[in-house]
Amino acid sequence: MRRAKITIVGAGNVGATTAHWCAAAELGDIVLLDIPQMETMPAGKALDLMQASPIVGFDSQITGTTNYDDTANSDVVVVTAGIPRKPGMSRDDLLKTNAGIVGNVAEQIKRSSPQAVVIVVSNPLDAMVQRAAMVTGFPKNRVFGQAGVLDTARYRTFLAMELGVSVEDVQAMLLGGHGDTMVPLRSAATVSGIPISQLIAPERFEAIIERTRQGGGEIVSLLKTGSAYYAPAAATTQMVEAIVRDKKRLLPAAAYCDKEYGVGGYYVGVPVILGANGIEKIIELDLTATEKAEFQNSVDAVKGLVEAMNKLTG
Ligand code: NAI
Ligand code: 2OP
Repeated sequence: MRRAKITIVGAGNVGATTAHWCAAAELGDIVLLDIPQMETMPAGKALDLMQASPIVGFDSQITGTTNYDDTANSDVVVVTAGIPRKPGMSRDDLLKTNAGIVGNVAEQIKRSSPQAVVIVVSNPLDAMVQRAAMVTGFPKNRVFGQAGVLDTARYRTFLAMELGVSVEDVQAMLLGGHGDTMVPLRSAATVSGIPISQLIAPERFEAIIERTRQGGGEIVSLLKTGSAYYAPAAATTQMVEAIVRDKKRLLPAAAYCDKEYGVGGYYVGVPVILGANGIEKIIELDLTATEKAEFQNSVDAVKGLVEAMNKLTG
């Protein structure tokens, strides 16, 4: 049986770490691609990862390249190409540079892997996924973004730390854009089915929600040289796994919503069923009045971002 072919565009921190997690889980054969100016860097990272295989015990083949021909007919393409956020930069500061990069990458994916499922990671995420969808012209179920799995993981981590319980027992869901307006749902957060609101003081719950919203910035200010990559790569790997193993996971993803939630044709974070066909279903939740208002605020922020990108890219 042919193994899944997974291309990761951008062999930097998020890309290479995603390759690491995907290989360790034997999700398929992996091609790491970067720009020609990076010369043999992707090949070096790929060979280094391959040399971990006898120790870790995986049979995935990992190759590095600067040539899209080597990525031909990938089943899944992960886009991490771009520049990351530096201290003092907002995700939106990245808009113009990364829109150009993601546009070029999307053209290459369209040519080399026309049947691929595409997971966009590059920031600002909600605009970059819109750009990739527009340039590839692929069906919307096959182009979507990773943000919610990461943001939900941060939310679950902070809740588990606060309550002194295993992260495995903390479930949560989050809606909206990948920015300060994201909506960590209060109503969907539980510990083994028990609503968090029964276990935690309201002011502590609100503090955790705010920390989740600022979760990316917190890592940027600690690292000082770039942005988070271990948890983002783990989150991306979970989405790759859901696709290549057709797991039908119910996860948050930046999905194209038109009538759904009344969004009107933008990519925003919503719960989806993720399987071999990419986004197989968008789940519409009953939201509280506060959550509805917060979601609308986040959708408005995403629309503003996309409009700004469209002005910059013409
Ligand atoms: P990085 O700088 O370590 O790696 C980016 C790589 O992309 C570099 O190796 C660069 O040479 C490459 N690249 C640039 N232009 C390219 C092109 N046209 N084609 C192929 N490769 C190209 O950055 P890092 O930390 O890996 O972050 C990558 C992106 O992911 C950033 O935009 C960052 O903001 C975003 N990000 C998004 C997250 C999310 O949850 N959606 C979480 C973490 C990062
Ligand atoms: C994060 O949330 C930078 O978007 C990235 O860590």
